[in-house]
Amino acid sequence: MIYLDNAATTMMKPPCVAEAVTAALTSLGNASRGAHEGALNTNRLLYRTRGKLADFFGCPKSEQVIFTNNSTEALNIAISGTLRPGDHAITTVLEHNSVLRPLYRLQRERGIDLSFVPADRRGLIDYEDFERLIRPDTRAVVCTHASNLTGNLLDIRRIGAIAARHGLLFIVDASQTAGAVPIDMVDMGISLLCFTGHKSMMGPQGTGGLLINGDIEVEPFKVGGTGVQSFLTEQPREYPTRLEAGTLNGHGIAGLSAAVDFIRRMGIDAIRAHEIKLARRFCEAVSAIPGVVTYGDFTTWERCPVVALNIGSADSALVCDALFCDYGIATRAGAHCAPLMHRALHTKAQGAVRFSFGYFNTDDDAEASIEAVCEIAERIGK
Ligand code: ALA
Repeated sequence: MIYLDNAATTMMKPPCVAEAVTAALTSLGNASRGAHEGALNTNRLLYRTRGKLADFFGCPKSEQVIFTNNSTEALNIAISGTLRPGDHAITTVLEHNSVLRPLYRLQRERGIDLSFVPADRRGLIDYEDFERLIRPDTRAVVCTHASNLTGNLLDIRRIGAIAARHGLLFIVDASQTAGAVPIDMVDMGISLLCFTGHKSMMGPQGTGGLLINGDIEVEPFKVGGTGVQSFLTEQPREYPTRLEAGTLNGHGIAGLSAAVDFIRRMGIDAIRAHEIKLARRFCEAVSAIPGVVTYGDFTTWERCPVVALNIGSADSALVCDALFCDYGIATRAGAHCAPLMHRALHTKAQGAVRFSFGYFNTDDDAEASIEAVCEIAERIGK
């Protein structure tokens, strides 16, 4: 199989990740629930990994690194834990449902008001729209670092500066960029960073986190056992315990920790250069094929290694199936959980076929995919 669905999850992981998970499966007890070697092993792992992640993402306090199962959980905690009844929030049409649905729910349940920064047919936004949409009751800007559909990057530092100037919380969905693009929360003005471990971080599914920059009161999304302060009827207020009810995914976190070490060893810039080289070669070649339409801004390669396309008016699911059944190439089709982005791109009915490159892809993968798109386009054109 040629795996080009890395934006959904990276399937080829560094060997050290699998080794770390395997070792963890038979050596970890339950953190904070005992003082024996097994429990302490897990406490040490969590402590070390919080430190690594804080350093990796520029979060000033490692105790404000909260482990979650994925970005969706982190976003739910961040959004529902900070927005209060009657607040106004600004977001964009680039968002994934992991941002949109928690916001829509608060619109229904807490009466929060939402404003959307629009995008043009290339998925580009006007940054001044953020400033224009701010009102006296605006509490937060919630937005993605990159569109999971087009791969366009947003200038997070610029949006962070606007948010800071107006005293707003800035919640960032880094699902598509964590591990792929350098992130520094302080430098970029990010208040709450939500990431997942299983995409460009190259860690296991079921890992991720919420990182909190500064003295921000985030109310717990779930409450329950923490192993400490058992006679309290409320969730303890201290981070990270406050937002981490229940046993953590220690085995997965062991893999995530190894994955961070791997990215550090290889160098995020070298990883990025390799992925972008492949995406760029693919994009430039397929854009020249008659009938192929690509979506996104390819005037810059300051973007994610993602190329979404359609061939003529063919249903994206049929093209995606042909790629896999006839060529063994794994891509993603359909709506990509990004309904407003599809509306902006005018691809609501057709969806789009997304090719997303990862560190373990090769030049041959890109060449084989170009050939496959060429042949399918020829077949469709006949
Ligand atoms: N959010 C993931 C994607 O874009 C699953 O495919």
